[in-house]
Amino acid sequence: MPGGDLFPADWLVPAELHEHLGILKTGKESEVHLVARTGGGRTVLLAEKRFKARERRAFRNDFIYRGSWGEGSRRESRAIKKATRFGHEALQSRWIGNEWDNLVHLHAAGVTVPPPVELLEDGYRMAFIGDGRVAAPRLSAIDLDTTTAKRVWYELLEELAAMVAADRVHGDLSAYNVLWWRERPVLIDFSQTVDVITHASARELLARDIDALGGYFTRRGVRYDRDWVLARAETREPGRAARVSSGACEEDRREEGWREEADDPQEARAGRAARA
Ligand SMILES: Nc1ncnc2c1ncn2[C@@H]1O[C@H](COP(=O)(O)OP(=O)(O)OP(=O)(O)O)[C@@H](O)[C@H]1O
Ligand SMILES: [Mg+2]
Repeated sequence: MPGGDLFPADWLVPAELHEHLGILKTGKESEVHLVARTGGGRTVLLAEKRFKARERRAFRNDFIYRGSWGEGSRRESRAIKKATRFGHEALQSRWIGNEWDNLVHLHAAGVTVPPPVELLEDGYRMAFIGDGRVAAPRLSAIDLDTTTAKRVWYELLEELAAMVAADRVHGDLSAYNVLWWRERPVLIDFSQTVDVITHASARELLARDIDALGGYFTRRGVRYDRDWVLARAETREPGRAARVSSGACEEDRREEGWREEADDPQEARAGRAARA
């Protein structure tokens, strides 16, 4: 549920010592390292996402996303267009800065993401999602039963709506970019996240995200209506996510049929009639 705290407020320790414990995952565009940070007499584990040099990376779609990446100087923009080395570096740092900014923004908005720690030159650090030194699996590797799948699908719809309320669309959502930790979904990987207000294709990206994630749930017996989910995510008033997470809205949510209608309108009507 958005805003539900994954970590206590004082989980992080001062940066006295960092020890690299190894690589968690090597992807096409990044490596994620496990790092132990010790400070104030405690040690906590961090995940450090480091981006590969621009030249070695497979930027398939980055052109689509460039337009909304904030200001940058004209010299930078010219260099990026001409694909000079300086341009590559500028693009790389905008790319990293974009992902970091999105993580910080979404965390502040109460979306369930790893708490951000700090920006580095070639990446950033965030809380390690795992138990002991074992990383949480991706949702794609977990075969949820239908009852749990329904519960998690609705939780993820709340997350999507909270993101849209915070003016963001994930842009690369699927069961590969959701970690499964302590029976809860945690969203990761905001490299393709776009601003709803300024990005011309935000709505198409949101629809694509819903379908990409929905595929995993459909295979586990969850039915949903894409247009209904889309409309619902888009009409969410800002700030509501926080109220839902505080529990105050649990009742409203049931009244609204947020759970039932997305799944089966007929069943939902029957459910409401039975409750009345
Ligand atoms: N905070 C975290 N805690 C634990 N594991 C993480 C964390 N962040 C990322 N990972 C692991 O690293 C993998 C890659 O991270 P991410 O999806 O952000 O990068 P990516 O460049 O998209 O990689 P890929 O090309 O594999 O999709 C994740 O699938 C997950 O297994
Ligand atoms: Mg990923």
